[in-house]
Amino acid sequence: MMIPREVVEEVRHRTDIVELIGSYVTLKRAGSNFGGLCPFHSEKTPSFTVFPDSQSFYCFGCGAGGDAITFVMKNDNLDYPSAIEVLASRAGIRVVREQEKEKGGLTRSRVHDMNREAAKFFHKCLLDPIGAEGLKYLTEKRGLSMALIKHFGLGFAPGSFNMLTDYMHKKGFTDQELAQGFLCGISQKNGRAYDYFRNRVMFPIIDTAGNVIAFGGRVMDDSKPKYLNSSDTPAFQKRKNLFALNFAKNYSTERLILCEGYMDVISLHAYGFENAVATLGTAITPEQARLMTKYTKQVVICYDADEAGQRAAIKAMEVLGQVGMDVRVLHVTDAKDPDEFLRKFGDARFRRLVEGSRTEFSYKSEKIFAKYSMDIPEERIKASEELCALIALSPSKVEREIYASMVADKLHISAESLKNDVERTRSKKLRAAKQKEGKDASLAARGYGDRVNPDTAKNVQAVAAEEAILGLLMLYPEHRRMITSGTIVLGEDDFFSGLGKRTFARVMQMEAEEGGFDYSLLGEDFSIDEMGRLQSMLQRRRALAENGTAVLRASVETLKQQKQRSDARESGDAVGSIKQLLDAKKKKI
Ligand code: CTP
Ligand code: MN
Repeated sequence: MMIPREVVEEVRHRTDIVELIGSYVTLKRAGSNFGGLCPFHSEKTPSFTVFPDSQSFYCFGCGAGGDAITFVMKNDNLDYPSAIEVLASRAGIRVVREQEKEKGGLTRSRVHDMNREAAKFFHKCLLDPIGAEGLKYLTEKRGLSMALIKHFGLGFAPGSFNMLTDYMHKKGFTDQELAQGFLCGISQKNGRAYDYFRNRVMFPIIDTAGNVIAFGGRVMDDSKPKYLNSSDTPAFQKRKNLFALNFAKNYSTERLILCEGYMDVISLHAYGFENAVATLGTAITPEQARLMTKYTKQVVICYDADEAGQRAAIKAMEVLGQVGMDVRVLHVTDAKDPDEFLRKFGDARFRRLVEGSRTEFSYKSEKIFAKYSMDIPEERIKASEELCALIALSPSKVEREIYASMVADKLHISAESLKNDVERTRSKKLRAAKQKEGKDASLAARGYGDRVNPDTAKNVQAVAAEEAILGLLMLYPEHRRMITSGTIVLGEDDFFSGLGKRTFARVMQMEAEEGGFDYSLLGEDFSIDEMGRLQSMLQRRRALAENGTAVLRASVETLKQQKQRSDARESGDAVGSIKQLLDAKKKKI
């Protein structure tokens, strides 16, 4: 173990989970617990609960759950030891890690150190003669000032195959570390390290704490690929970060401007729109949308003018709408992207575009009107159908009425009949959604789509019994003692699913050999999703305090029967199933 058990215990003792989570999520008291909007999935009504008594949390919506350590791991995207370090330093505890085992894992802070060195190297190269071409590209071709280049820490990766690697060796980084941090590749032929970014202008990606977490590198001509980006590392997930949010977050809370490209953001900042951010080479994710809600309530989407950009804008509206953001869209005309627009028309015109940016509804309805001619009846019908479907999406009746009256005139039909159509469409949609929900629920009840424990679908009853047993074992020391003492005979092999076996083995090992079970120590061996599942097993058994033992015995019985049945089915063992049938009969007598 990298972090000594005493440290984990002390960290937990000195951390108040309500206070911790309360600093990220607005929590409201609900009985003896606290509730709030889940920070891990998009929701508008709270299903996220914090339990002060057990110092744990669980979301009934998405199944995320755990203790303070799990929360920090998930929220800050940290591994187990780093999450403990964060909590320890919050509580003023010094952590000395035991000998780091050859898990081969790069720590977050090591990646940060490595990237900071590399960023310095790239930046220096840009200003040296070796980077002349890069500097020329950025200043002359892209019109960036020196001040702006410094502000963003832009750099240049020389064409050489080993300049960065050599430099980083001198700074004490190994080939393996560099490769894991996506700064070098390892040649398949001779096993030697070579620089990953070559002959590109470099954009460092900086998180809100000021760490360099990744790089994007652009070619200076039309060759492909246009950008190379760092892949995910222990310090970086592209779906959870935004370019330039480190600057934008300090600029204004009124709104953020969301763009597609690094270059768009840099131009916007240059022209005074320092609230611009961009995704990192992917479509916007729910995680990024939630990240933005920490800083603002309004986002103006400002994507490229082409088809692809406009399609992406519609997707982005959905993702941002789902986290309750006030979403606006801005469409640049006579320029391919915001960067070009600013350079052609200047900041005053762009500001007017921002101020006049349209809501989702007006943006989408204008698209529909643009598609059809109102002079041709058939097209008018098509347009009203599409508008109807669009208006029906709005959950507020008042909104639907207003939208219907807004467009009725243009369609040359009465607002009344349009409203009726809208309501009819809406009830149809709701019915279909209910049906789908029912179908999904019945599939889920049969274990399909269980990604955390994929064995569930193979035998739902066995896994349910397992979960009951594990929940009780994690909750009550006396139940664990029944197992260690042999009062109840149960072993790892009696468990059906892989997750069940692993959990049982680890829980009992702690109980027997490590001075008792402790949920907080599971984080080292189980994924965050698994921690959530274990938390749900625990929470669901809490109510059973009274007849827990009876439930435990019954569940062990069920598990053994189901396990036999499944094993027999799997091996096609006829004798086995007959024997099992007989066993079952015997028991009834
Ligand atoms: N992108 C990428 N890989 C590519 C192309 C694009 O990761 N091969 C990402 C980059 O984050 C880029 C964004 O998608 O910033 C937008 O792409 P694009 O519009 O092609 O690039 P710009 O940054 O706008 O660059 P430029 O203005 O120089 O064309
Ligand atoms: Mn672009």
